[in-house]
Amino acid sequence: MSLILQPFSLGDVTIKNRIVMAPMLMYSGQEDGKVNDLHLAHYAARALGGVGLIATEVVAVEPAGRISHKDLGLWDDVQIAGLRRLAEMIRNCGAKSSLQLAHAGRKSSTEGEIFAPSAIPHTDQSKVPTALSTDQIGDIVQAYKAAAKRALETQFDCLEIHAAHGYLAHEFLSPLSNHREDRYGGSLGNRQRFVIEVVTEVRKVWPRNKPLIVRLSAEDRAGPGGSEIADTIDLGHQLKALGVDLLSVSAGGLSAQFDGEIYPGYQVDFARKLKQALDIPTACNGSITSSELIESILHSQSSDLIYLGRALLSDPFWVIRFARQAGLETDLVIPTYARATGPYLRGH
Ligand SMILES: Cc1cc2nc3c(=O)[nH]c(=O)nc-3n(C[C@H](O)[C@H](O)[C@H](O)COP(=O)(O)O)c2cc1C
Repeated sequence: MSLILQPFSLGDVTIKNRIVMAPMLMYSGQEDGKVNDLHLAHYAARALGGVGLIATEVVAVEPAGRISHKDLGLWDDVQIAGLRRLAEMIRNCGAKSSLQLAHAGRKSSTEGEIFAPSAIPHTDQSKVPTALSTDQIGDIVQAYKAAAKRALETQFDCLEIHAAHGYLAHEFLSPLSNHREDRYGGSLGNRQRFVIEVVTEVRKVWPRNKPLIVRLSAEDRAGPGGSEIADTIDLGHQLKALGVDLLSVSAGGLSAQFDGEIYPGYQVDFARKLKQALDIPTACNGSITSSELIESILHSQSSDLIYLGRALLSDPFWVIRFARQAGLETDLVIPTYARATGPYLRGH
């Protein structure tokens, strides 16, 4: 029996199938961080293509936290209307929506000063970040909270905190990028403090019945001395207790190279380990393109949801194609789309 088209519930939100469009920065915005027509068309296409949950690309909580000057933002009330239009568009195209909040930390390529837990650049060629003061850390935690409050007004179904891939939250977690000697660095508990504070503050304004997702790099895979799965399991226990509904499990991103082999589903085992250790829903990602691999991940209960990235960039209709090939019905807002993927039938 196929599990791909089986619904899955998180809080009050029921996702019609297990396929999630992974967050992917499209570098298609402007300096003002507002949603434009390209964002609407891009996400709507995948929603019309039958994807269950559409996750936005990074949405920055403050201007210095943008990966690029073309990122979306939610640091100002004027950015709410466009994101509300995007959430409405995704809803009208038949999918649930998730908004990803992020701060780029030392991986920001914006003009001017960039910030990180410690003054250690991402690569030898990268700009050296300024180490954040404790006051500045407090301000960023409050920026997450304020952005989450605005996110509520956008009427997105889910909120995702990006704490993976070497951006600010991950930089705090890793001993490789966090050399602080205050209460935000040193011991595992101190390195976890920033993420715990962000999630605690966000959960105060993001209602309990609305799903909160945290994206984590389960292992740094950036050379010796980095975070490992046991550290992430430890953090996961605390996130679950704080009311996080799903862990989106990825890996790497702290350095330019990934220390490990890359093959279809190479990160799935991390999601399985977190799911088993914590009894919490997980999502996995990473070079997953075939329905056979997805069925095997779902049947082995390694993960509950599957984030598809590049597969959905190249084929917005991945879900429809799969359904037709498997002889299954899928719930489409424009049912006529299904006619385009099956055996040739004369049109009129
Ligand atoms: C163009 C592009 C942009 C990305 N931007 C983001 C992002 O904004 N936030 C995020 O969490 N991951 C981002 N990622 C990582 C993807 O969400 C996903 O984890 C990665 O592409 C692996 O999945 P895939 O092999 O199915 O593409 C990006 C990936 C790509 C290819």
